[in-house]
Amino acid sequence: MARIGKKPSVRLRKARIRHFLLTTGLNRLSRGWLYRRHHAEGVEIVEQEIIAAGWPKAFDGLRIGHISDIHVGDLMSADRAIEIVEQLAAAEPDMVCNTGDLVDLYWPGVEPVAEAIAAIKAPLGNFFVLGNHDELDSGEDVDRIVSAAGTTVLHDDVALITRGEDRLRVGGIGWSRTPAQCRQRIDTTIGDERVDLLLSHNPKAFDHAAAKNIPLTLSGHTHGGQIARRNKPDANLAVAYRRSAGLYEHGDCRLYVTVGAGSLFPIRWNVPAEIAILTVRCGD
Ligand SMILES: [Fe+2]
Repeated sequence: MARIGKKPSVRLRKARIRHFLLTTGLNRLSRGWLYRRHHAEGVEIVEQEIIAAGWPKAFDGLRIGHISDIHVGDLMSADRAIEIVEQLAAAEPDMVCNTGDLVDLYWPGVEPVAEAIAAIKAPLGNFFVLGNHDELDSGEDVDRIVSAAGTTVLHDDVALITRGEDRLRVGGIGWSRTPAQCRQRIDTTIGDERVDLLLSHNPKAFDHAAAKNIPLTLSGHTHGGQIARRNKPDANLAVAYRRSAGLYEHGDCRLYVTVGAGSLFPIRWNVPAEIAILTVRCGD
């Protein structure tokens, strides 16, 4: 939905052109077949165990519901997004981590989705970081809506989760395009503080997160390329990303890149949309 009275940024204008070429235009050429086929595809719940040295023993076995890249817009109605959020709620995670791109191009209409996510009863909380698409129209408005719904937005911030005497530190950085930007945001966000879990839309944050000995980083953004070779999730269209789908290691540190619940264009080939349920084990 284009909005009247606001001049779009250059990035938003480029994204609209890309959206026309890869989504609405392509769909028109297919006489609506692409949308019908895409909307008929489900979202898989993917269970993954992650063993991370340095993960706090008190939180051994924590189940994180990791959702990302919902992209509410032409390819994801608010109603469909709420159904997906209900799938996540039914998995009863201890904690919900949403690594961004809640919206595709524009934020108006995303409020009920933000409310549905915040309503998931995860005992250790509900966290969100902004993705690049969230910032295309207005990152401030996405931040405001998600926060108002009751989710903790980690915009270069660290949250302390306490359970009795035990502590889990969750850091989150705002959208950062390059490894250097990721590094700078991580350094200014956590300084010399110990962080157990980092949320970053961009998986390019992982090298520096590992250098800072953060046991686990969660990311999205790549969508796993949306098109991959059969049984080779890494051989995909996200060629600009060394780590684009699934679990990665760097020394003792771990990265999980979810391929996302929504889409950038209406084709997914060997890369089904997912919600990840991550069970984190202490590897010490
Ligand atoms: Fe995305």
